[in-house]
Amino acid sequence: MGRASKLAHSTWVLISCYAARMNEKKEHQRAAIGAGRDVPRPLRLARIVDAFGITHARRHVFLCTGPNCCTSEQGLETWEYLKKRVKELCPNLAEATIYRTKVNCFRICTDGPICVVYPEGAWYWGVTPEVCERILTEHVIGGRIVEEHCFAKNRLLPDGEVP
Ligand code: FES
Repeated sequence: MGRASKLAHSTWVLISCYAARMNEKKEHQRAAIGAGRDVPRPLRLARIVDAFGITHARRHVFLCTGPNCCTSEQGLETWEYLKKRVKELCPNLAEATIYRTKVNCFRICTDGPICVVYPEGAWYWGVTPEVCERILTEHVIGGRIVEEHCFAKNRLLPDGEVP
């Protein structure tokens, strides 16, 4: 096996281990909040909504962790930072006003990590942990879009407009 193949294989193994660990962690979380797979669907979903403060969220941050807009390592570094900071900013998960979601592609596929924050629909490029911190403090908490890293805006529906 060549050096590049070995490196690609090691990266794949690392990412697979990370994904397996995350799935295990999610199953533990579901069990801990009483929303395991054996619980009837309406109750299971209601418990998840309550546990993660779905109806309290004021802003939703989506982050792409690559692998095309950035390397998976870069994407996961920012993702871990985002998770840690949201936990610090919203210690009570059931009443958290910030919701965060990891995605695998927005079809931008360059200049990542790419991130989008709703309800403003502000799209950000180059979201390193440092830029992520600015997005959290200036935009998500402060309400001001970080213009230097914003490359598109689309609120989807203007305030008060019903389709
Ligand atoms: S891989 Fe991140 S936008 Fe496509």
